Amino acid sequence: MDSSSNSTGASPLATIDVAELLPRLDRGEEVLLLDVRNQEEYEGWKLEPRQPVETVHVPYFDFIEDPEAAIARVPHAREVVVLCAKGGSSETVVDMLKEAGLLTRNVTGGMVAYGEYLDPTALPLEPLEAARFSLFQVNRRGKGCLSYVIVSGGEAVVVDPSRNVSWYEAFVAERGARYVRVLDTHVHADHVSGGPELARRLGVPYSVSAGAGFVVDHAVTPLSDGEQIRLGGRAGVSIEVRAIRTPGHTPGSTSFFVDGRYLLTGDTLFVASVGRPDLGGHAVEWGRDLFFSLRDRLGDLPPDTRVLPAHYGGASEISDTGLVWGRLGDLRSTVPELQIDTPEEFVRAVSGAVTDPPAAYAEIIKVNLGGSASEEQICEWELGKNQCAAASGQRASGA
Ligand SMILES: [Fe+2]
Repeated sequence: MDSSSNSTGASPLATIDVAELLPRLDRGEEVLLLDVRNQEEYEGWKLEPRQPVETVHVPYFDFIEDPEAAIARVPHAREVVVLCAKGGSSETVVDMLKEAGLLTRNVTGGMVAYGEYLDPTALPLEPLEAARFSLFQVNRRGKGCLSYVIVSGGEAVVVDPSRNVSWYEAFVAERGARYVRVLDTHVHADHVSGGPELARRLGVPYSVSAGAGFVVDHAVTPLSDGEQIRLGGRAGVSIEVRAIRTPGHTPGSTSFFVDGRYLLTGDTLFVASVGRPDLGGHAVEWGRDLFFSLRDRLGDLPPDTRVLPAHYGGASEISDTGLVWGRLGDLRSTVPELQIDTPEEFVRAVSGAVTDPPAAYAEIIKVNLGGSASEEQICEWELGKNQCAAASGQRASGA
């Protein structure tokens, strides 16, 4: 039976997609969020809009054990949106609340859909830049992961794409462009990269640097330090994406400098902190590398450089324009780790600040190096937010 209809087939079950819900919550619309996941799931990972949202937590099993008591715990708000892990148990709760007379809708796909949802924002470029290229930040809101699409003269490059590769294909096709290259800033530890699959599907080169001692089993086109990728030449415009090796978070971490102004830093530098160097078991060595990358490799870049990271820690880091970004000159005075003068002190500070590693990070790294895993397994690993920054609390950003 079609679960989107009730038994009479007369009125469809009320549902709402994450793509509709999240912008409404971001605008601060009056919606009551009813989360019916169990306590552990609820505490571990919450929907995080840009405005505070009234949330009530009543586990699904409370509705099954004592429906009346559970329903009585739900305030009669103007609209009650019900959320669970995958959208199944919340559908049952929606039916119960409807019978009780509440106006209610089920979040399609639940937190899994939230974790996969991609929200693109175009960067507001200078007029002379906008005539030559577009740059989009693609925000995977549920995980706090950021990827980027650069389009110039009908050619496109994507950096750090997530697993929803069809989305990236459609996004560029809608703009009349085609990908010429797929890049990863590093071997990710918090999510499975869509890079290798996207490149395979499109028949274009894929580049990632794992660093010395690591072997990538995907087909990889090497990209050396300082090498430039040109885009848009066929259409008479041309921009450059320059690789700048910035080891530390991982030994192969690479930043990409777009048109001499927009710096895609991966997990090297965030807008409120720096990447964690401890995920390979070499926190001191990699921490020193990170110190020198930040000081020496990025130290000479102009203050007006726009820093575009691969992760962020919370909705408070999303600016009014909808972007997560910072001016390098500003970050040099606001990011505490950039104030530190010696590698020893930097390593001490960064090592002392890291939180728990991302769940299943060792397995995720193996898959990103070319290992295999089932869809179901990957989906489970990817639940929850990233934990990639060397800082705790609000300052935490991306792994
Ligand atoms: Fe990372």
